[in-house]
Amino acid sequence: MRAVAVTPGVSGSLRPIETPEPNPAAHEAVVRVTQVGICGTDMAIVGGMHCQSPSGSDFLIIGHESLGQVVDPGGAAGSLSPGDYVVATVRRPCIHGRCRPCRSGHTDMCLTGDFTERGIAGRHGYMAEYYAEDPRFLVKVPAQLAPVGALLEPLSVPEKGLRQVWKIQERLPWAPRKAVVLGAGPIGLLAAMLLRLRGIDTWVFDIASPGSAKASIASQTGAAFVNTADVPVSAIAQALGPVDVIVEATGYSPLAVEAIQQLGNNGVLCLLGMAAGANAVPIDSGAFNNALVTGNRLVVGSVNANLADFQAGVDDLSEFEKEWPGVAASMLNRRVPLTEYQTAFQRSPEDIKVTVLLD
Ligand code: BGC
Repeated sequence: MRAVAVTPGVSGSLRPIETPEPNPAAHEAVVRVTQVGICGTDMAIVGGMHCQSPSGSDFLIIGHESLGQVVDPGGAAGSLSPGDYVVATVRRPCIHGRCRPCRSGHTDMCLTGDFTERGIAGRHGYMAEYYAEDPRFLVKVPAQLAPVGALLEPLSVPEKGLRQVWKIQERLPWAPRKAVVLGAGPIGLLAAMLLRLRGIDTWVFDIASPGSAKASIASQTGAAFVNTADVPVSAIAQALGPVDVIVEATGYSPLAVEAIQQLGNNGVLCLLGMAAGANAVPIDSGAFNNALVTGNRLVVGSVNANLADFQAGVDDLSEFEKEWPGVAASMLNRRVPLTEYQTAFQRSPEDIKVTVLLD
């Protein structure tokens, strides 16, 4: 079968490969991949960073944002049928289920760091015509949501982040009214949509122009789009008053530091972006310390997602369609055939979610 792979750590090694079709264990389902999304993690992998091949292999099939159709349900014959659309989760438990979170299905909270991730760390990914998987890691997507199914994995990331925020805020009687999202990429826009579904006034800050597709998507969901040239992150509190939640989805780490001081009392800053590398910025540690202490503010980081977040994501994709028909689909704004996979990695500022089509 055809697949796309890299040699881990080698920039420019992205290449098409021919590899045997999966040889599933009896309980495993076989899935024919229809679409694979590309994100910043994939760009970093292709640039030579952040991945490991499976043991015994000197290459890694990339891709962790998938949508596919069941060919053989394996041990899930009662719950999955051929033709069903599914999205596979990314992370698998740490070796021998060594930690309590992994043993109890919370691989996204793995303690040891010895987990594997499909298409990223130690397991082949989904940019291949077929994959085999334990059905426990497959999430069924209703056929009517197939046009937006490729957004489920990216959506699972803010689903988890916001689930954590709401859980943490049980520390007080909390009635959030204002949220800010930094970054209008897919994670930021999906976070904004989740916040809007909860009825929260939401502002999306980005460097994109107010006439861009990103700005239009934010506005169509009732969020306000703000260009950071007009209101810099450092002026958020002054412009908007007390903000209850800030979601950082740019991965530009200096913004994370600036955002802390923009939170209202009892506010939460949720970091979802992965910084590309070191970035030394001067910090007034006194102001930083006191912002947290005197305002009960907190900062929480969140990575990956639980199966429950994928399941919540299916429900929320359906809510998105009801509230704002076609808006989520408009995020999938460049699709390239497998034969032209290289072009998916040549990013343009207009791209929101680029996907590679495998069928
Ligand atoms: C993926 C997560 C993964 C993280 C770190 C992200 O792009 O969406 O599932 O845990 O990268 O590897």
